[in-house]
Amino acid sequence: MFKNLWQSRAELVEKNLLAHLRKTPTLEPRLAQAMEYSLLSGGKRLRPILLMAAADAVNGSGEKFLTAASAIEMIHTYSLIHDDLPAMDNDDYRRGKLTNHKVFGEATAILAGDALLTLAFEVLTRQENISAEILLAVVREIGIAAGAAGMVGGQSIDLESENKQIDMATLKKMHLGKTGALFKAAIRSGAILAGADAEKLNALTIYAENFGLAFQITDDILDVIGDEKNLGKPIGSDAKNNKSTYVTLTSLDTAKNLANDAVKLAVDALKNFGGEAEFLRELVKYLVGRNK
Ligand code: IPE
Ligand code: IPE
Ligand code: MG
Ligand code: MG
Ligand code: MG
Repeated sequence: MFKNLWQSRAELVEKNLLAHLRKTPTLEPRLAQAMEYSLLSGGKRLRPILLMAAADAVNGSGEKFLTAASAIEMIHTYSLIHDDLPAMDNDDYRRGKLTNHKVFGEATAILAGDALLTLAFEVLTRQENISAEILLAVVREIGIAAGAAGMVGGQSIDLESENKQIDMATLKKMHLGKTGALFKAAIRSGAILAGADAEKLNALTIYAENFGLAFQITDDILDVIGDEKNLGKPIGSDAKNNKSTYVTLTSLDTAKNLANDAVKLAVDALKNFGGEAEFLRELVKYLVGRNK
């Protein structure tokens, strides 16, 4: 049931992403190709799914916010294109295909990322059936989360932490930034769009922070023990770059325990919700045991 909903929503997102791209004029065809290449190359579509699931948990309005959900996937895709660049993680495969710079070259990959990031904010303004005031709150939420105080800030800690020992507090800050911030923005945006009260927004925020942590710890674990074919990206990328991860700072077993602790806290945060939040509970439990 939960997997069927995930699958059908992911298909909706794919179609919507394509529709928004097609509505967007691009001055240069190779740039358009590079944007489409990464945006439509699959992926779990978790951030849009979470935005919609949060709105569902508030009042069942998830699919009403498909446009905002697609916008956040554009930001995520840009972050992956840049993350794979030689100046960052220097990886050749992503979502089972050659990375953007391997196909289009570094300069075009950088520009495709830039264009997806900016397009995301335009697409947010295409979200219908919502007041300008609420939409502005969401633009602000996503803008802060994507930038120096969020995803980009976390990526910066990640790069600064290569080839050195960092402490647990810094590692946690890095994870909450590079991965947690967009998840949190997705979930909070879904809740805000659906008109959540302060209590529900707060509960979903705690869920989101723990979701992000559990997710990135699992990503670190999969980088060591995952299977390249399932993951669609290289394993051993962190070791190659001498990254600090939950696995290097603790151990595989401790990392798994910490991910499970975060899952418990995430599920616990939803205790005042009923069946309308079951998808969120199932998803976080499923993702720590994932193989892709
Ligand atoms: C990968 O994110 C990058 C991280 C933040 C760990 P996902 O695992 O959600 O990647 P896709 O979108 O499914 O490819
Ligand atoms: C990157 O983390 C997170 C972002 C892209 C913001 P990783 O570098 O661990 O992600 P993967 O493992 O390459 O997907
Ligand atoms: Mg990285
Ligand atoms: Mg990487
Ligand atoms: Mg990783």
